[in-house]
Amino acid sequence: MRTADNELLTRVGPDTPMGNLMRQYWFPILKSDEVKQDGSPVRFRLLGEDLLAFRDSNGKVGIIEPYCPHRNADLYFGRNEECGIRCVYHGWKFDIDGNCVDMPSEPPETDFKHKVKIKSYAAKEKIGMIWVYMGQRNPLPDLPDFDSMRLSEDKISIRIALRECNYLQSLEGDIDTAHLGFLHLGSVGATSFDKTSGEHYLSQNKAPRYKVIDTECGTMYGAYREAEEDTYYWRVARFCMPCWTMPPGGNLLDHIIVRAWIPIDDHNSMFVSLSEAGGKPLDNLKSGAALKGIGMGLNYVENPGTGYLDRWKLVENRSNDYLIDREMQKTESFTGVQGIHLQDQMITESMGVIEDRTKEHLGTSDQMITTTRRRLIKAAKDFEKKGTAPPGVDNPEIFHKIRSGGMIINRDLDWLDEVQIRKDTAVWPEGSDI
Ligand code: FES
Ligand SMILES: [Fe+2]
Repeated sequence: MRTADNELLTRVGPDTPMGNLMRQYWFPILKSDEVKQDGSPVRFRLLGEDLLAFRDSNGKVGIIEPYCPHRNADLYFGRNEECGIRCVYHGWKFDIDGNCVDMPSEPPETDFKHKVKIKSYAAKEKIGMIWVYMGQRNPLPDLPDFDSMRLSEDKISIRIALRECNYLQSLEGDIDTAHLGFLHLGSVGATSFDKTSGEHYLSQNKAPRYKVIDTECGTMYGAYREAEEDTYYWRVARFCMPCWTMPPGGNLLDHIIVRAWIPIDDHNSMFVSLSEAGGKPLDNLKSGAALKGIGMGLNYVENPGTGYLDRWKLVENRSNDYLIDREMQKTESFTGVQGIHLQDQMITESMGVIEDRTKEHLGTSDQMITTTRRRLIKAAKDFEKKGTAPPGVDNPEIFHKIRSGGMIINRDLDWLDEVQIRKDTAVWPEGSDI
């Protein structure tokens, strides 16, 4: 990869091509219950911009820049009261749309307050998340129509974690199927799985063959390997614009999951997983001591602070080598690090805050990654040069019934036909809004 392409792909601040592309999309960057009515504002960062979220007396969420337009005092220290946030320096007050609604430090006859506004961004709430939109489109686009968005509240599982590296390498870790058999299952033998499960075949054959294609909303791969004499085990997974993945840890028919790798800034990303509750990846694992280290739990720092990068920090991180246990690495797990999420976190963060892609040597197992990079570069350039609306922005319905997962099918069947059949017969949990 050329340096220029790596820069284009990874820089997401204002007035960068990828930053402009990203600004066309909504991001679920806060949990609804993080932002309390008339409570403290919450600091967060998105696409390289420091922002505040606050919930007003009517329960509506405002997203604003943190600095008061009077003399730049930090509104984080403001009073969230009676439908607005009031700067405690000279009392100017702003509503959720950024309008100055009170300016008690100026004589009542001036109309100065009507001339002052603070930068604000649109917010919507759905499935327990606050979605933020930082683009210019008017009217606002709709939220992406992922199947997870139609799950009832009691059926959705939300997992969030800060990852201290650029969004793209986080995302690429999720579409890199080849690492599953090493990083996560390197010390788990085929006998640990039910005999007819996909994972059984997967741990028998760690070098599958791949098909990779562009789709309407992103890219998709099918990794296939021999199952029984006349069947293949296919693992189908997806990338959806602009930073979503659907990993294949379930059955293609009923596996509902989508994961965002939200660009916080050039050096940090936020993992937000929206999936059907109860569905565990690696469901087919038999229990047993050999499987130690595979758990999915996340340990959050207890008193993380209130800074722009303090939300959803994990206890095990770069500064303590992810609490790697060398004894466990010798005897029980490939990495010595507890949990699939943490193993991914360690390895993607270890590549540097922005991976230098000019030094890579990519093999046939990396086709999904190269195809996805090309897709993102093309979308950013098309938007920059021709103003082409990026996929899914004006047509968010293209994400509907897009799923990932495994299937065991006869060798003479076409995998894309089989994916389509499963799309047409997708299974939904009770209470879904379909
Ligand atoms: S700096 Fe905020 S009111 Fe003066
Ligand atoms: Fe992984």
